[in-house]
Amino acid sequence: MKYDIKNLTLEEKLHLLTGQDTWRLQTANGKLPEVFLSDGPNGLRMHDVTKEGLPTKKATAMPNIHVLANTWNVEMAYLDGATIADDCIENGADVLLAPGVNIKRTPLCGRNFEYFSEDPFLAGTLAAAYIQGVQDKGVGTSLKHYCANNREYDRFYISSDMDERTLREIYLTAFEIAVTKSQPWTVMCSYNLIGGVWASENKWLLTDILRGEFGFEGIVVSDWGATHQAARVAKAGLDLTMPFRAESFEELKTAYDNGFLTEAEIDRNVARILAFMEKTQNDKKVITTTKSERHENAVKIAQEGIVLLKNEGNILPLQQGSISIFGHQNLSLGGGGSAYVQTDYKIPSLFDALKEKLPASATMKGTSHCHIDWNQALFHGTAIQAVREVDTIVYCMGTYKEIETESMDRTNICVSPTQVDVLKRIAKLNENIVVVLHAGSAIDVSEWEHLAKAIVYVGFAGEAATEATADILTGKVCPSGKLSETFPMNLESVAVGKYDGNGFTDWYKESIFVGYRYYDTFEKEVRYPFGFGLSYANFEYSDLKIEKKGETDYDVVFTVKNTSNIDAKEISQVYVRDVFARVIRPLKELKGFAKTALKAGESKQVRISLNERSFAYYSMPLKKWHVENGEFEILVGSSSKDIRLKESVKISLPFDTQATNTF
Ligand code: GLC
Repeated sequence: MKYDIKNLTLEEKLHLLTGQDTWRLQTANGKLPEVFLSDGPNGLRMHDVTKEGLPTKKATAMPNIHVLANTWNVEMAYLDGATIADDCIENGADVLLAPGVNIKRTPLCGRNFEYFSEDPFLAGTLAAAYIQGVQDKGVGTSLKHYCANNREYDRFYISSDMDERTLREIYLTAFEIAVTKSQPWTVMCSYNLIGGVWASENKWLLTDILRGEFGFEGIVVSDWGATHQAARVAKAGLDLTMPFRAESFEELKTAYDNGFLTEAEIDRNVARILAFMEKTQNDKKVITTTKSERHENAVKIAQEGIVLLKNEGNILPLQQGSISIFGHQNLSLGGGGSAYVQTDYKIPSLFDALKEKLPASATMKGTSHCHIDWNQALFHGTAIQAVREVDTIVYCMGTYKEIETESMDRTNICVSPTQVDVLKRIAKLNENIVVVLHAGSAIDVSEWEHLAKAIVYVGFAGEAATEATADILTGKVCPSGKLSETFPMNLESVAVGKYDGNGFTDWYKESIFVGYRYYDTFEKEVRYPFGFGLSYANFEYSDLKIEKKGETDYDVVFTVKNTSNIDAKEISQVYVRDVFARVIRPLKELKGFAKTALKAGESKQVRISLNERSFAYYSMPLKKWHVENGEFEILVGSSSKDIRLKESVKISLPFDTQATNTF
């Protein structure tokens, strides 16, 4: 151990359990290094503590996490983490307070833009790769917000209440996958209560499950201001309270003096902090990218995370004729709050980016900054003529960081009526409309979807948004993104909408039926399903083989062929269905996926492995994950609704493994 606990006085140890200020840990009178924690998931958001007013330093504004999730590409997740790590190293941040893996229980949650998915397997798998990307460069991460922080409404005081199966199968699994695969140096507890106990004081979650079951080896840090009593959190297994909290030392000293908090418990937490500090002092912090290379990485991730939702008559890619752009060309780099990144990259307008990338057979009409003055431009001569004459209109609309932000939830899932009104006016003049949609979470498109021949869901794609969008619109890059969250028909059709509790608790009455688990199982229509995304190419699936490696271990092997004349990438998804269970289960659950690059006409064999957890549910009588004997369907799909191949397997485990008599 580089830092010996024996060198610390009791006072120094107690002080160490609370931060020095907003971002830095204590140094025990200089005996320890000064460790700097900094946000955030969509790029480095770091206050310059040397300057008055704590201005935010500039960094690469990466595509937001929901765009990364829409890549379904673990290599992109790793690249994202590694890219942000270089900004961290350059600016002296030892730990990146990311990624957030809270499940998208409701499309209204204000922070969905910085979370991965409605599915815990996809969220956990991508988060693990992102963590690996950051930590392989010697920078730490903070897997957050542990746990069940699925709304912004009253987040500091509300209790997320649910049955244990729901907690385990939906709200803990992403944390479990990320911890067991990548050992984040820290886990950040959430603000809320779970089962009536603050996350920061929840020994069952922080110690028994996170450490005892998941094998977490790092430190637990509070969300900023989530500690309400320093001794209670320390005893529960929360090691570090952030930021500095004046009451902490006295609370700890009193608890120690009266025996509530033992020296062993204090030393346990201090030892974990010292081990964490040792990790931060490493020789792996080597910058390997220039700022422009980081930008290029952001473009790569955005290109793979853009989702083509509609392409009627193959109006895309734009290859010829005149094109005009209307609307807000890049509404927001990202969602608001602690994840918002300040970049000094000069983002080209979509007009300029398109002009740069269009083939010679196509021309841009209009101006580069054609931001509509809603009351003037469209309703008078010039613009009306322009709209009528041009071959294709690209109309940019969506939400922005004032709407999708930390500390508040959306009240609806629509874009503003003004933007829709302008689209309707344009549609009266010209039917060839391509909508470019900027939003950090699901949008109800029902009012205007029929007016657009194509819909390109860019999301909050950071500083790369316009360049990556132009690459997709012009066909320089074939779209390969797929939705990591369902786009419902409307807010009325979702499983969980606006908060309807008593003000103190949020009852997860929908249980495990979140996202596609709800829509599929209860046959609810959706606009665009989980795992959906179009391409300029087409794919054929064939030759499914299920190779048995063990009673609950199988390789799912199949062939995907790119039947078009352009190079493309296809995301294949493997779902498992428990044909007959003695507990209620979703119709199917995602248990594997792969993104395959295929040249024009190329075929490739895809192999995805399933293991015991692919078939298991959490058994409350057994208090563990349990595979119940019987038939399971293995479904291979291009989306959760577009199942291309399927096979059944029959699992027959020994008598003594079964929870009950299976006849
Ligand atoms: C915020 C957020 C958390 C962030 C932290 C530091 O309240 O909940 O995600 O990392 O405080 O800004």
